[in-house]
Amino acid sequence: MIRYRRSALRAKPLVMLAFAALLAGAVGCQGPFPQSTFDPTTSFGRDLAGLFGLIFWWGVGVFVVVEVGVVYVLIRFRARPDGEQPVPIHGHTALEIAWTLAPAMIIVFIAVPTIQTIWRDAGPAADNPLEVQAIGHQWWWEFRYPEYGIVTANDLHLPQGRAVTVQLTSADVIHSFWVPRLGGKRDMLPGRNNRLSFTPDSVGEFLGQCAEFCGLSHANMRFRAIVHTADDFAAWVAAQNSPHASEDSLSTLEQQGLAAFRAVRTPASNSCIACHAIQNVSFGVLGPNLNHVAGRSTLAAGVLNNTAEDLAAWLRDPAAIKPGSLMPTIGLSQQEITALVAYLRSLR
Ligand code: CUA
Repeated sequence: MIRYRRSALRAKPLVMLAFAALLAGAVGCQGPFPQSTFDPTTSFGRDLAGLFGLIFWWGVGVFVVVEVGVVYVLIRFRARPDGEQPVPIHGHTALEIAWTLAPAMIIVFIAVPTIQTIWRDAGPAADNPLEVQAIGHQWWWEFRYPEYGIVTANDLHLPQGRAVTVQLTSADVIHSFWVPRLGGKRDMLPGRNNRLSFTPDSVGEFLGQCAEFCGLSHANMRFRAIVHTADDFAAWVAAQNSPHASEDSLSTLEQQGLAAFRAVRTPASNSCIACHAIQNVSFGVLGPNLNHVAGRSTLAAGVLNNTAEDLAAWLRDPAAIKPGSLMPTIGLSQQEITALVAYLRSLR
């Protein structure tokens, strides 16, 4: 009786620990899950989620069969004080055939749907796909739309219901393109083209990120896929192709900002125009193209809000916000920062 009480006392903390772990796990299961691969919005994503589900349930089946066998053998053939010595068996033809055939069949059941899925989804997109060239940079995303002559950064705008082919490459090191709810995850390799094809079927904003370690700010290399209705996408294209406000129509402060943007600094690599392109102003290609930058959802590849305050902080000291940032801290005066912010925010 006493022994029973002692063990009950010992068990109590264990039970409480197990309960706490269960509670923590259950709380972790609450949504929303903006980057869940189990909530796909393309046929490609659904194919992958379906394949994962199939293989998962095969795994569950194998687990159950193996565990039931192990537990049965442990109990049935356990050592007993007065038990007889078991008779050793060498070779059992039926068993040997069974446990060779069973795994081979399981591999076939996994391989056939896997290869079917690869063939269905790895090919080029259907008729008249929208082609987007996605180029990974340390640590931001360049998106080019050759069909419309648009170059933008960190917001991937797509139309609902039209097939998209995303051509993937990198300007420097290996990155990986991943928007979990659109499906897939594919490396962007310098000097090589990879491809992802899918048709978005839901309007909305879907978070993406780099999925291949690419240096100091790998975790700060984020983007958004923004899926529009066909009409809204056409409006976005028209807005991107519209000219910025003319220089004459800029306010005095905005004109000072444009002058600061154009200024050639020492060293020359500290000049804004050395790296950034703005229509009719500059042609830099090392940093993000800044056409209509004020209309983007974020700054610095998803790290900052696209507000005047955040833009000012970014111009003051990029590396403080994004470790390793290739945009240098160029020692702008407060007046220059205020003017540059006003000018950049005029690029709507
Ligand atoms: Cu780019 Cu990690």
